[in-house]
Amino acid sequence: MSVTILAIESSCDDTSAAVIRNGHILSNLIAGQNIHKSYGGVVPELASRAHQINIVPVADQAIRLAGINKCEIDAVAFTRGPGLLGSLLVGTSFAKGFALSLNIPLIEVNHLQAHVLVHFIISKGKSIPGFPFLCLLVSGGHTRIILMKNHLEMEVLGSTIDDAAGEAFDKCGKVMGMQYPAGPEIDKLASEGDKEAFVFSKPVVRGLDFSFSGLKTNFLYFIRDRIKEDPDFIEKNKPDLCASLQQTIVTILTGKLVKASKETGIREIGIAGGVSANSGLRNAVMTEAEKRGWHLFIPELSYTTDNAAMVGIAGYYKYLRGEFTGQDVVPITRT
Ligand code: KG4
Ligand code: ZN
Repeated sequence: MSVTILAIESSCDDTSAAVIRNGHILSNLIAGQNIHKSYGGVVPELASRAHQINIVPVADQAIRLAGINKCEIDAVAFTRGPGLLGSLLVGTSFAKGFALSLNIPLIEVNHLQAHVLVHFIISKGKSIPGFPFLCLLVSGGHTRIILMKNHLEMEVLGSTIDDAAGEAFDKCGKVMGMQYPAGPEIDKLASEGDKEAFVFSKPVVRGLDFSFSGLKTNFLYFIRDRIKEDPDFIEKNKPDLCASLQQTIVTILTGKLVKASKETGIREIGIAGGVSANSGLRNAVMTEAEKRGWHLFIPELSYTTDNAAMVGIAGYYKYLRGEFTGQDVVPITRT
């Protein structure tokens, strides 16, 4: 049996469409939205309007790039949530219309599950994790340690009690005058700085949960005090500030992942989500993997931030299990 799925992702500020056949990605297109850069974060109303403009051309292009005819598509998978309501509505409505017009099934996908399932995309020469699989999901909206029992059953072992790790990067970046999203710029500058230059606070949080709001406040007050003494403090110390901040976030994340692995005894380990693009985090988990004998899975950079390929692979496993969605489906903003 051959299964071809058109996948749509529109939960936040990226409009993405992918075509996936039998677990292999045939195309994966992402249209970003520069419009949010100067606002310091995603503006929901602007995001949904941009999705409306982008969704048809992006899906059309993904089908063309895959080299298929739309009649070959067996199902449409889409992100139902969590995410921004207006953004989700655009993707959901498009998916419904597309499925209705071709009389093919609809498959709803959970955005967080999709991020984790990115490791199960089938590609030549690449291995996929065994179960149970433990994944650190770190994005702009979520920070979770997820235990996958099989392709579709997941248990959340730990979660942030306030800000997400990506938010910590973005908010601290804003304090340094950077545009949204600041994570990639901090990552780049960190490579030129000294990670021991400054010490920022690490929270004490029970179990496998996380907290990042204290670090953000600590960073803000630290900069405010130093600027009083030297107005050019940020400009003079940017690489060191970035390296020290990144080191703090990475240490918090890695510490909890190691704890989760020890507590569960699981050594099939992965990272996923936008922050998994961070070079400091990638290096830190590689070091831990070597030390602890983990079978480690780090996503390709193009599969770290929001993309429809991950929605497609989640949709594929749901298709195999016959898990379809009715036309009366509505988006869900929270988990
Ligand atoms: O998964 P994602 O695209 O969207 C959400 O579902 O939230 O993640 C976006 C987040 C942003 O906070 C961005 O700053 C962060 O991922 N990010 C990074 C890097 N690349 C993206 N954070 C740190 N280092 C990076 N290289
Ligand atoms: Zn995401």
